[in-house]
Amino acid sequence: MKLFDQFNRKINYLRVSVTDRCDLRCLYCMKEKMTFLSKKEILTLEEIERLCDNFIDLGVKKIRLTGGEPLVRKDIIKLINKLNLKLGNTNLKEITLTTNGSLLSNFAKQLKDNGINRINVSLDTIIEKKFKKITRFGNLKKILNGIDEAQKNNIIVKINTVAIKNFNEDEFINLIEWSNKRNIDITFIEVMPMDETGLDRHLQFVPLDKVFEKLNKQFDFYKINKNTGGPSVYYNSKNLDNNIGFITPLTNNFCDNCNRVRITSTGKLFMCLGQNDYVDFKDLLRKDYSDETIKEKILFALNIKPKKHDFIIDKNTKPYMKRHMNVTGG
Ligand code: GTP
Ligand code: 5AD
Ligand code: SF4
Repeated sequence: MKLFDQFNRKINYLRVSVTDRCDLRCLYCMKEKMTFLSKKEILTLEEIERLCDNFIDLGVKKIRLTGGEPLVRKDIIKLINKLNLKLGNTNLKEITLTTNGSLLSNFAKQLKDNGINRINVSLDTIIEKKFKKITRFGNLKKILNGIDEAQKNNIIVKINTVAIKNFNEDEFINLIEWSNKRNIDITFIEVMPMDETGLDRHLQFVPLDKVFEKLNKQFDFYKINKNTGGPSVYYNSKNLDNNIGFITPLTNNFCDNCNRVRITSTGKLFMCLGQNDYVDFKDLLRKDYSDETIKEKILFALNIKPKKHDFIIDKNTKPYMKRHMNVTGG
């Protein structure tokens, strides 16, 4: 069975936020003081697995675990272990993770042992002081150790860097060369106007089309057809061994090719990152409804998946997204 939405886009990628909690507080992602969900509000690992099973039956090939920070969820390896058992004998072809890297040095081996071969690590600066500033209290060394440990365990690492005005624009070339030396691909991401963080989005936003033009002068990029199923468009250069990606929801919309939906840790299915509508699965999971009913509801949700996001960043538009990025993990 294959899943299609109302615009005939094939949906085969499920992002699963396993917790809204995070051990960092990035300035563009959260407010300093956040209220997190209580344990009874969030799905159990068994409930998450059951929901995943239904999506996999319907044709989902790729699952990405996100957060908050997925590695702070208690017993996360148990879930990964269960999902790993489905690789090869179901539609599922890949399980992966987007992490802030702070717990990676503890988890790298267990991740590899449980079928994780590729992860994305969020890293916006490689200058210690600036790292502390953007994450509010993070320790860069821990992240770098985590990346080393992942690579030692043969996990392919990609770096995700959110482009932030007057913060890391002057580091893009350094970040590219730093990751090139480590044989790591890197993707730059445009800030998206999720819920309020206390800072105006238009003061954070850097349009990546302009960044591309500048970097292109130095690297003379050519487009490659690397396709991971995510929204990043990748380039290569004869001066680089790694691939450089750009995720441009604002300057170059990619919704026509959207292939994904996202589940929150409480069981809400957001059909689009940049819209507020969702379909809630918690009751179905908790009140003993059948898998058939769950599947029917998934099909219903895809029939109302929006065509595209309505992100706007300008001086006069307040974010209308009623959730922070930690609810869906991107
Ligand atoms: P892979 O290609 O699978 O490695 O993943 P990716 O490049 O999609 O990376 P990841 O999943 O780590 O997401 C990176 C960033 O892209 C995050 O900030 C996400 O919010 C953003 N992103 C991912 N999917 C979407 C999407 O469907 N719409 C929008 N607007 N942003 C997305
Ligand atoms: N806009 C763009 N990316 C964001 N992230 C968190 N908040 C935002 C935002 N407002 C990124 C993180 C991580 C990924 C899950 O989403 O840095 O790489
Ligand atoms: Fe898909 Fe919405 Fe992301 Fe566009 S913004 S790619 S429609 S999830």
